[in-house]
Amino acid sequence: MKQQTKRLLKSLCMAVGIILLSAVDPLAGYAAERTIDIKHLGEGQSIVRVDARAKYLLLPVEESSPESKLYMIVDNDVVRTFNVRLAVNKVDYFVPVDLSGYADKHISFNFQLAPESALCWKEMKLSDQFDSSNREKFRPAYHFSPAWGWMNDPNGMVYKDGEYHLFYQYNPYGSMWGNMHWGHAISKDLIHWEHQPVAIAPDALGTIFSGSCVVDKDNTAGFGAGAIVAFYTSASDRQVQSMAYSLDNGRTFKKYDRNPILTSTQRDFRDPKVFWHKESNKWIMVLAVGQEMQLYSSPNLKDWTYESSFGEGQGAHAGVWECPDLIELPVKGTELKKWVLICNINPGGPFGGSATQYFVGAFDGKQFVNESPALTKWMDYGKDHYATVTWSNAPEDRKIALAWMSNWEYANNVPTLQYRSANSVPRDLVLYTKNGQTYLSSTPSPEVLKLRGKAQKKGSFKVDRSHEVNPVLPDPTGTYEIEIKFKNNGADIMSFQLFNSKGEEVEMRYNLLDNTFTMDRRNSGITDFSKTFATATSAPISAAKEYTLRLLVDKSSIEAFDGNGEFVMTNLVFPEEPYNRISFHAKGGAFTVTSLTIYPFK
Ligand code: FRU
Repeated sequence: MKQQTKRLLKSLCMAVGIILLSAVDPLAGYAAERTIDIKHLGEGQSIVRVDARAKYLLLPVEESSPESKLYMIVDNDVVRTFNVRLAVNKVDYFVPVDLSGYADKHISFNFQLAPESALCWKEMKLSDQFDSSNREKFRPAYHFSPAWGWMNDPNGMVYKDGEYHLFYQYNPYGSMWGNMHWGHAISKDLIHWEHQPVAIAPDALGTIFSGSCVVDKDNTAGFGAGAIVAFYTSASDRQVQSMAYSLDNGRTFKKYDRNPILTSTQRDFRDPKVFWHKESNKWIMVLAVGQEMQLYSSPNLKDWTYESSFGEGQGAHAGVWECPDLIELPVKGTELKKWVLICNINPGGPFGGSATQYFVGAFDGKQFVNESPALTKWMDYGKDHYATVTWSNAPEDRKIALAWMSNWEYANNVPTLQYRSANSVPRDLVLYTKNGQTYLSSTPSPEVLKLRGKAQKKGSFKVDRSHEVNPVLPDPTGTYEIEIKFKNNGADIMSFQLFNSKGEEVEMRYNLLDNTFTMDRRNSGITDFSKTFATATSAPISAAKEYTLRLLVDKSSIEAFDGNGEFVMTNLVFPEEPYNRISFHAKGGAFTVTSLTIYPFK
């Protein structure tokens, strides 16, 4: 069709309020008009009617636009309400609104706030496809990230019948925080994940904030033996606790018809973590309430009794406490077990913004008692490790933790578009004792080893000033693991740099004068999306002659694990080009790299 005729037809259609998008629906097998009929009502109010015979309405998003409120209306009833940053001047990406559940119905949308001049009216379209293929350069290869849209906290992690379920805070309508749903993915090995449809969507009680799942083996709730029962916070003006259950191994959830199950007059009242406490024969719920954790108990998952509160005068308090977990762990090298209360805090982390602190102590089914109230203990010494919780019902009583690899200081602005945020690798937790204190030790879950490709070993070499190792790192995409063994021969500082041809680098160093390990990302690549991103983070280390470090690098993240499990450090990086070279530097003396092993990922 000639451009002119096309334009004429388009303006004709506009005149009668119709945009003709495509004439034939191949799926329906008969000719059907796919139309978007837009009526502007003034002052940012518009009604959009769509032909239901497409799978999706694709909405154009511009991230710097304000959120517009959309009501999806089917047969005169609102079936969904959500906010979208509709494109005004340019389109950053599209988000899909799934229309498929209403194939033979009339669907319309009430839009609030997008001006009549906005670009979105021209750009929105009906389609049977939504392209969510994985192509952004910072999207990790082996860390979980959502197919599209925004993700924050891991939620409701539960193992059942050979499957690890991961739910997560999810916005399917944009890559910034909002419209919280529980997204869902399933894995058989904690590494390869299959995306599932949204598990729990907002309702009249609110959006769906963080929480947990249990397997109700003995049918204490009466939903059925083996039901997966989910607990989450329904968030609107106030926060209340709700539950839903699944009788088909997590494929679908039904909300409990008597929600909410727990309310409070406190404004910050959220993130229920539920577990079975066998000694007291009861379910326990831990809730984050302002700057404390509250414990409740229940025989049946539905009726909850307040037991105690924990927090005053303990640990860090420069922010709100969120996403609790309470687990019992063995102490390495002993027969002892102790309880650990995981407490995410935002802001107030050691390097600003969000972080995970924890308390070690005793729990009797009613009260948690911290054994070292004078100490603040951090689970990870990076800046991008938050909302950490563990899997429920994991095999062999393993306690497997997962963190959201970001920080509320800049999570909404990191330089990705179609999706935002990834999780850490899964980490197995145990306790260890040092100088009379008990600490958490996190190591990559053994499943992570399966990702290692063929090892490339560089022999032992001495570093007395500076030493660049050739050849370059193996994987040009920036996805690899490196294991380095250091032996100090009198150096004050043993450092190494991952770098690229653009002069971008991440420096890591052992400072043997003050016994710290530091990761410095100030020159790591793109850092200007936030004032607080370009920074270095440090962890205390034990004084020793030899150290082993394991680095998991995946395009836009580096996780550094101490070989003895004494510290972990998780930091995001956004290099313009992958770091594909490594060099070593010594100060004040020499050291030896007794082995350097590089594993490309399979
Ligand atoms: C933590 C958090 C939770 C809350 C959720 C909302 O990152 O603030 O406390 O449930 O995110 O998305």
